[in-house]
Amino acid sequence: MKGLHCSLALCLGLLTAVPAFGQDAKVTVNGAQPGPVLAPEIQGQFAEHLGRLIYEGIWVGEKSSIPNIRGYRKDVVEALKAIRVPLIRWPGGCFADEYHWRDGIGPRAKRPVGVNTNWGGVAETNEFGTHEFMDFSELVGAKTYVNGNIGTGSAREMADWVEYMTNPSKSTLAQTRRANGRDKPWTLDWFAIGNETWGCGGNMRPEFYTDQLRQIRTFIKPAAGQPTKIIASGGNSDDLKWTDVVMAGSANMIDAISLHHYALPSFGRPTRGTWKDKGSATEFGESDWFALMVTATQMDDLLTKHSAVMDKYDPKKKVALVVDEWGNWFDPTPGTNPGFLEQQNTLRDAVTAAINLNIFHKHGERVRMANIAQMVNVLQALILTDGPKMLLTPTYHVFDMYKDFQGATQFPVTVAGPKYSYAERSLPAISASAARAKDGSVLVALTNINPNEAVPVTVSLDGVTAAGVSGRILTAPAMNAHNSFAQPDAVKPVAFTGAALNGTTLSVTLPAKSVVVLVVK
Ligand code: AHR
Repeated sequence: MKGLHCSLALCLGLLTAVPAFGQDAKVTVNGAQPGPVLAPEIQGQFAEHLGRLIYEGIWVGEKSSIPNIRGYRKDVVEALKAIRVPLIRWPGGCFADEYHWRDGIGPRAKRPVGVNTNWGGVAETNEFGTHEFMDFSELVGAKTYVNGNIGTGSAREMADWVEYMTNPSKSTLAQTRRANGRDKPWTLDWFAIGNETWGCGGNMRPEFYTDQLRQIRTFIKPAAGQPTKIIASGGNSDDLKWTDVVMAGSANMIDAISLHHYALPSFGRPTRGTWKDKGSATEFGESDWFALMVTATQMDDLLTKHSAVMDKYDPKKKVALVVDEWGNWFDPTPGTNPGFLEQQNTLRDAVTAAINLNIFHKHGERVRMANIAQMVNVLQALILTDGPKMLLTPTYHVFDMYKDFQGATQFPVTVAGPKYSYAERSLPAISASAARAKDGSVLVALTNINPNEAVPVTVSLDGVTAAGVSGRILTAPAMNAHNSFAQPDAVKPVAFTGAALNGTTLSVTLPAKSVVVLVVK
């Protein structure tokens, strides 16, 4: 979560757009040498007890006038099912390290009410607890990722929680689960030992955390037959030392280590570009557009560097790198509780979502889960709600367009071509990824990050047979186009007819600031 440095010219705000020169881009898809199967969990979601995410966004209670299924709002469940959400991470985030699971079981009316100290200091009713999370995940059809509490919890508390969720025996904890309404154990797919333990999870040093991790890991014992994978709390953005220390001390005891990276439009905003002034989600110009593309694109470099550190201890890539928090973070929507991290979501968010998914595909061998922050009403949300109303954001639509990449076999991709330049810096204008979907079709995702110029793209599909192409595009006239409750469909995907297939070559003109996913059969 660090700001970027800027040159003097940028610091003085001397920002001028440099037009593109109409150069073509060449994308080569190497279908003859397929890469890894892309873990569906790359399209995972993050649902923290934060603001209006759990309460209002998911849980409205069985007696609500908002249509619901056992208390979970129906419109949200249906929207999540439609994009085949593969996995949900819960209960935090920073919230996780103050969460005591026993507060969230048993009759709802009797659950203790706590304070959500991280997020607005509001009351936490504990109405949504372990049973509700597991039930909700089953309803959506998503795998489960529970984040344990190391900050204010203990080895025993975490071990008991895992026993409560997974044990089929007649142990007192399993019987308590039954008494609370759940006979069969749930499937616990992932369990993390702490969150951001370098910060809100305890301000630990990596050596101290690693020793704690080793101790606690010893006592986390999911029942036989459970698929549970254990995640170590990882470093922040470019903190390679953290990854090094944790991997050196625990690589043989964990299944994954996490990484968090948020994108802020800080480049070129020298007196700002900090967590105090992150910029508006909707009121921005090209300088902030470009700045956000810079920080979002950094994900590629971060994954390369963290993976290289992991390779030292785990050359066979048994331990996954899970980017369990990623997304854009702007100033909160004016008039909302600043502790609730509410922000609108524009075409700019859609473009960076596509960039990140393409980067995760590139690193699919090591990156086997990612969780956008967050699912509903918080940060780069896929869904926004307002009382009984719900809308799908441009970011949601990108996940919808990419959903067939879940479980697809990655094809290596190279991109050559024009840069998108702004002031003194430039980025590749085109971001791309490709894969063979489970139904045999070839998926080609192309994003043009240049908000001003269309880019002609030639895609060579090497080693692939191709008979026809179809696709969808997400774009809009304005950089800050977004969906509101008055106009919920202002930005949504439509059929794309701008791709022509000749043999195994695709010719595409990618409109400015657009996300396209093509399906070649
Ligand atoms: O996603 C919001 C917060 O960002 C999470 O609680 C924390 O882990 C991170 O700092």
